[in-house]
Amino acid sequence: MKLLVTGGAGFIGSAVVRLAMSRGHGVINLDALTYAACLENVASVADDPRYAFEQADIRDRAALDRIFAAHKPDAVMHLAAESHVDRSIDGPGDFIETNITGTYNMLEAARAYWTTQGKPAGFRFHHISTDEVFGSLPADPAVKFTEDTPYDPRSPYSASKAASDHLVRAWAETYGLPVVLTNCSNNYGPFHFPEKLVPVIILNALAGKPLPIYGDGSNIRDWLFVEDHADALLLVLEKGALGCSYNIGGENERTNLELVRTLCAILDDLRPKAAGSYADQITFVTDRPGHDARYAIDPSRIRAELGWRPSVTVEEGLRRTVQWYLDNEAWWRPLQERHGVGQRLGTKA
Ligand SMILES: NC(=O)c1ccc[n+]([C@@H]2O[C@H](COP(=O)([O-])OP(=O)(O)OC[C@H]3O[C@@H](n4cnc5c(N)ncnc54)[C@H](O)[C@@H]3O)[C@@H](O)[C@H]2O)c1
Repeated sequence: MKLLVTGGAGFIGSAVVRLAMSRGHGVINLDALTYAACLENVASVADDPRYAFEQADIRDRAALDRIFAAHKPDAVMHLAAESHVDRSIDGPGDFIETNITGTYNMLEAARAYWTTQGKPAGFRFHHISTDEVFGSLPADPAVKFTEDTPYDPRSPYSASKAASDHLVRAWAETYGLPVVLTNCSNNYGPFHFPEKLVPVIILNALAGKPLPIYGDGSNIRDWLFVEDHADALLLVLEKGALGCSYNIGGENERTNLELVRTLCAILDDLRPKAAGSYADQITFVTDRPGHDARYAIDPSRIRAELGWRPSVTVEEGLRRTVQWYLDNEAWWRPLQERHGVGQRLGTKA
């Protein structure tokens, strides 16, 4: 298949691009190259004749029409988004424009292209979203997000993603656009931009800096290795039921404090300090406003219908991730100079 992947220079999008190419698909990577992008993430496939890069903004409808007409993709995997919750608290405007208006433009450009192609039944618009649209869960481990959990977004980021999900469903119902949707939990892994929790902890630890934990560290997330996620996304694209959404989780719930302690233990093993443990650098800081207490995915549908389960535990995935950061300083060092990276954001509310 020839896939149009938006946001393919970002963290998850680039994992999708690399995996799709390794499985024989062609890829058109459409990305505006915002502060969060890094073309190094796809350097391993950039010279392949089945790969093309288009620098374009999903807010620019004319550019999208030109790209659809030029490349004639068989399917769209839409990942381009503003993705950092803390930045959405300080500046929600970009999130509204890219995540909502940008998704609207993608849907309209895809619909126009699909119509001119004679509405091929095999065409897919795969919208990649987040479990944060469902809001916050109580501590009870029996309660998890299913695909039928009512939407209850609580941050500007999750509200913008929820709006985009609604648009995608509306385009399927109203215009018959063949869509599939996925809502995943927190990803981690190689090429994770160094403003997110896992890379911040690894890189601060190595630099001898405090390891910031928001609030008391009791917030629970369901950690999903990015390469497992990319695998699930390609499976849903190829085998997912038309119009259906699938929740994708890591089956690895951990509190933020547990996660950080695990990272410290891995670092103590792989790059021991002269004295003491990296855990000595843990520092509790002011909580994020409206910080959701718990996210957890009920993976029943994707497991039962598509036979998918994550391949690694969070301990295995984190060990691979830490080793990758130890081996790839040339990738992360320059990114630390980008605007806002290394600063505490999202405390304005
Ligand atoms: N990272 C997670 O844990 C997570 C969890 C659930 C869902 N998601 C969703 O997965 C998708 C990818 O997330 P990520 O973590 O890889 O994000 P990311 O911030 O690493 O990458 C986003 C990419 O989109 C591009 N982009 C942003 N605005 C654009 C625009 N207007 N036009 C074109 N390109 C634009 C950026 O340049 C960047 O390359 C997003 O839709 C996000 O909401 C992420």
